[in-house]
Amino acid sequence: MEHPKPTFELGFSYRALKMKASVIRELLKLTHRKEIISLAGGLPSPAVFPQKQVAEIAAEVSLTHGEVALQYGSTEGYTPLRDAVAERMRSKGIDVTGKDVVITHGSQQGLDLLSKVFLDPHDTIIAEAPSYVGALSSFHAFEGKVLSFPLEPDGLDVEAVDKYMRCLEESDEKKPKFIYTVPTFNNPAGITMSEAKRKRLLEIANEFNLIIIEDNPYGELRYSGDDIPPIKSWDTEGRVVYLGTFSKIFAPGFRLAWLSAEPRILKKIVIAKQSADLCSNTFGQEITSRFIEKGMLEPHIEKIRNLYSKNCVAMLESLDLHFPKEAHWTKPDGGMFIWVTLPENINAQEMFPKALARNVAYVVGHCFFPDDAGHNTLRLNFSHATEDKIRSGIKTLGDVIKAEIAEKGPVQ
Ligand SMILES: Cc1ncc(COP(=O)(O)O)c(C=O)c1O
Repeated sequence: MEHPKPTFELGFSYRALKMKASVIRELLKLTHRKEIISLAGGLPSPAVFPQKQVAEIAAEVSLTHGEVALQYGSTEGYTPLRDAVAERMRSKGIDVTGKDVVITHGSQQGLDLLSKVFLDPHDTIIAEAPSYVGALSSFHAFEGKVLSFPLEPDGLDVEAVDKYMRCLEESDEKKPKFIYTVPTFNNPAGITMSEAKRKRLLEIANEFNLIIIEDNPYGELRYSGDDIPPIKSWDTEGRVVYLGTFSKIFAPGFRLAWLSAEPRILKKIVIAKQSADLCSNTFGQEITSRFIEKGMLEPHIEKIRNLYSKNCVAMLESLDLHFPKEAHWTKPDGGMFIWVTLPENINAQEMFPKALARNVAYVVGHCFFPDDAGHNTLRLNFSHATEDKIRSGIKTLGDVIKAEIAEKGPVQ
């Protein structure tokens, strides 16, 4: 449809005027051509969607319990699902019951609601750099200012956080509202925070009276090494807000996730959620709950792990074979991403069209920094493409990078 030329001001709020479209989503639009090997988006593999099981459970739910499942539900979420989530959290060492859990429309909604209830304009947030871009955009939408702290090979530089907080005590600047972290197989870098750092971060939060938001979508996708307990498992003061999601272990299409926090926070989240969507998708909650009840979730996660761990190995092997010696990358024990750092004089955004012209796509790394740093970095996803495509995509990308390095010459 042809839209008439605008003749009037729309009067958007100051907040809306400052909102920016997600750079990743814009880039992903370019990667939808069939011939493109996309190592870009953070999509789970459709090869492990439990289509048949979901079809059967959906029919069962609709026919036997449709009068509830197709109705509005409570804002907090479907009780059996909240209980099942709490049981899974307890198995990870977190002492909660279903009453401590609210079901959200994806963890993204959790991040949005937390921003809504905690952030006033110009409030600050401590976050890892690089950090999950969807969280950065939620904080930005509520006019929060992200303070970046380096992500080291064993996670957030917690001593830098401690130092910052000590200096802050001597100034009259406002205290950060919370610390946001993805401690396990972080998006975008695939890095995991060590146990020592997790405990130390909690110690710092206790000392300086800070909230920690622990966002853990990838924790169950471990392919090697030993599990490290979530930060929340050591939280004795109720200062860790924990976010988990069914997106990476079941199906993102249901948009189902959870948030667990101490009662005062949970109460505000529920009120904020009421005005956002009244309740999460009831039909999906019931299907998910039955999927868990029937014992289907654990074998399903195992299937996902098997596939992604093969993909991860394929990507790491191909990187070794085809990437130039000037490039460095993370070697994750789980999750969905590998983070690549190129020489200082290579700009991953400028190189992007050249990769796309050779039918391979990645995400430019600077999107994951609040201050546009990281121009020489990129994120690679290994969950979505098939093993063959991963191998040929990395080979092509290696050629593109080598050509770029040859063109730019040595770092001055
Ligand atoms: C770190 C992190 N948090 C939250 C989300 C949002 O997940 P959901 O699908 O549950 O909204 C993602 C999605 O990729 C993520 O990587």
